[in-house]
Amino acid sequence: SATPVKVAVTGAAGQIGYSLLFRIAAGDLLGPDTPVQLRLLEITPALKALEGVVMELDDCAFPLLDSVEIGDDANTIFDGANLALLVGARPRTKGMERGDLLEANGAIFTAQGKALNDHAADDIRIGVTGNPANTNALIAKTNAPDIPAERFSALTRLDHNRAISQLAAKTGAKVTDITKMTIWGNHSATQYPDIFHAEIAGRNAAEVVDDQAWIADSFIPTVAKRGAAIIEARGASSAASAASATIDAARDWLLGSPEGDWVSMAVSSDGSYGVPEGIISSFPVVTKGGDWEIVQGLEIDEFSRAKIDASVAELVEERDAVTKLGLI
Ligand code: NAI
Repeated sequence: SATPVKVAVTGAAGQIGYSLLFRIAAGDLLGPDTPVQLRLLEITPALKALEGVVMELDDCAFPLLDSVEIGDDANTIFDGANLALLVGARPRTKGMERGDLLEANGAIFTAQGKALNDHAADDIRIGVTGNPANTNALIAKTNAPDIPAERFSALTRLDHNRAISQLAAKTGAKVTDITKMTIWGNHSATQYPDIFHAEIAGRNAAEVVDDQAWIADSFIPTVAKRGAAIIEARGASSAASAASATIDAARDWLLGSPEGDWVSMAVSSDGSYGVPEGIISSFPVVTKGGDWEIVQGLEIDEFSRAKIDASVAELVEERDAVTKLGLI
């Protein structure tokens, strides 16, 4: 049978972890033929709760779950990891300024970047879900100089999936009919969900919609503020959908994006579409065998250009802030 894949998950006792771990162990990430070894990282006070989660994993008797290891030391947990899903992060609490948030997360992602650098397997791929995801990924990448920059990504797949769902609802199309959706920029309220290159059953989505006011005043803000709407309704931030998107993103990265389609991933910019080199910004990408390539040659009109530039400007600001803090 296939060699087990070591999947490290941080923040494993959190909300997203409670959905993510069970989906991974059930085979949703690597398929029905690949056994999984879970390596779960938490902060010390959360280890007891994590033990409870592991009891539940045991109780599922998942055929594909080869082993589970837990701990609070990144150097041990990341040892030999093939995939690291960095979900754990420090949430913004009352009275915390933006700089405090970047600094608190900076400490986490500096240490985890170094631990990955020194201990992960040679084929390591790293997906960052914990917010601010793009800049956390930038910090981890910069602190892991021996790992190729293309091995780091931040999650904008949830935004991508939300955009597909909104477009399907508007047009009455099935989600499976919608292809070539793109999220540009930061996983934040400035993100730009772009349907000008998307297709609905092969037809241009913006032409099918034929309603610029809906795109500008309804679709884009609904997708960008969906996280806040979930918190308002559920009293807690999106967790099952974030876990599902984390799996979609990692699965497509490792196993390949669908033929004739692309996915959104925040990756280290090579300067494509005027996005400054080195920042972790969301692009349309095709993936194959653990590698990604930014889709080239898309025509960007004035409306889209302004939206991309605004989100990228925010990422540059975040980069400059963490540079000032000495984190990168
Ligand atoms: P949560 O607060 O329920 O869980 C986070 C867990 O991370 C906690 O158990 C905490 O103890 C742990 N943690 C904190 N520091 C850690 C460290 N240094 N090492 C290991 N574990 C650590 O939060 P939830 O709801 O699971 O969300 C996790 C993160 O994902 C948050 O930053 C949230 O903002 C982000 N998120 C990102 C989305 C995206 O689309 N990119 C969507 C939804 C959430």
